[in-house]
Amino acid sequence: MSELLPPIEQMLVESGGKLRAAIETIDVNAQGICFVVDPSTRALVGVLTDGDVRRALLKGATLESPLVDVMKRKFTSLPADTPTEEIQRRLTPKLHYIPLVDGQNRPVDYACAHRFRRIQVAQPLLTGNELAYVTDCIQTNWISSAGKYVQRFEQMFQEYCGVPHALAVANGTVALHLALDALGIKAGDEVIVPDFTFAASINSVLYTGATPVLVDVLPGNWTMDPEAVKKAITPRTKAIMPVHLYGYPCHMDELRALADRHGLFLVEDCAEALGSRYKDRPVGSFGEANTFSFYGNKTITTGEGGMITFTDAKAYERAAILRDHGMSKQRRYWHDHVGYNYRLTNLQAAVGVAQMERIDFLVAAKRRLGEIYTRELSELKGLVPPPRSPDVVNSYWLFTMLATDECGVARDDLIAKLLLNGIETRPVFFPLHQMPPYQKYAPKGGCPVTDRVSSQGLSLPSAVSLTDAEIESVCSSLKSILGRRNLFS
Ligand SMILES: Cc1ncc(COP(=O)(O)O)c(C=O)c1O
Repeated sequence: MSELLPPIEQMLVESGGKLRAAIETIDVNAQGICFVVDPSTRALVGVLTDGDVRRALLKGATLESPLVDVMKRKFTSLPADTPTEEIQRRLTPKLHYIPLVDGQNRPVDYACAHRFRRIQVAQPLLTGNELAYVTDCIQTNWISSAGKYVQRFEQMFQEYCGVPHALAVANGTVALHLALDALGIKAGDEVIVPDFTFAASINSVLYTGATPVLVDVLPGNWTMDPEAVKKAITPRTKAIMPVHLYGYPCHMDELRALADRHGLFLVEDCAEALGSRYKDRPVGSFGEANTFSFYGNKTITTGEGGMITFTDAKAYERAAILRDHGMSKQRRYWHDHVGYNYRLTNLQAAVGVAQMERIDFLVAAKRRLGEIYTRELSELKGLVPPPRSPDVVNSYWLFTMLATDECGVARDDLIAKLLLNGIETRPVFFPLHQMPPYQKYAPKGGCPVTDRVSSQGLSLPSAVSLTDAEIESVCSSLKSILGRRNLFS
């Protein structure tokens, strides 16, 4: 993913011209192909490759021959919003270039086999010891959940978070469920959850039989509003679940103080925030049990995977048993509890260990990306990046910002236009209380901040493998779209 391909403009030639113009275009773009467009509508009408030119000259064409007599009229093109996987599937050894067109059949981008130009939102970086460690598992036959990498992964994680215990599990969702279960959360209890989060946060509460109590987020950093939490506490409240959304740490001083004052557990959902810090303490070290996700798009990945960090030793011991079918640690096949199989495999942990070896590099790369985006985009009217505060280190899992009304371009239009410029983005989560399974938990008065942020937020490409040129391309596309200088707007 190093150099960028020539922009689409350098690939285009008008159909009214001569063969000479097409050869000149191919000479400049150095791609061996050009796309022929109608001069008035800019619609794609043909393609011409080096090979087509050679064959035409051999058949007697000259540099002055009309281009329309030589170009190929039968060719493959795809809509610019075709899913990445589909475009990749269509690129074959015989079909190296595919023009990507907008709704009016105008070429706005192109894909090619040796360099796919779409800049993705997230991508794992598996270039350390991942392959060597996985190979070790396979060569030694330790592919299931027994084996040295699971414990090593837990050890590295617990040291990184500065906590006494860590437990590796199958994914971030079961991590939340197991954390709540190990703390004894059950039917009849209430757990306070932000309205603005991924569904796994609330689902895990529902798995325990407890009732989720939704609260709104703060307008500045979109994390759980401590004042709203305070008002939501009832005699049935057992836990508060702060979610460090998109990497931004919640107001942990206030939330910890509330939990302590009311005798509640704190369960941090750190799925999106590995590497983030609040007042110089890592997230995942404030609550009794805290969870992480290692899905493929996360800051470190094991494919699927999760971790629970504990400051409460009893909860850790209980969770370790529940993770393994509730089986007694002393007596094999003796079950004191109804447990689960929530184990992580040694193969996955092997990837996790290799990822943790590079955690400082990965977090630094995310931080750098966040700094560049913040610097470059802050000047754009109506775009609101996450705030910066001396109290927090944001690990920018996904660099997420608001496209407010002042932008003059609605969030979804901005997403569509960026895609036409070869840039993938993601809209943020929907408010939980608006979706069918959770409507019954909508708080009185709703969650107006979540409603607004949810309709305006989008995440930019945030993979650690992004090159400077790619980050620059995202920023300049945004600048030109919002400056209305974009060719395709
Ligand atoms: C905030 C939050 N919590 C929990 C999860 C669940 O993690 P997993 O996908 O590993 O089950 C995610 C996953 O994306 C998440 O974003």
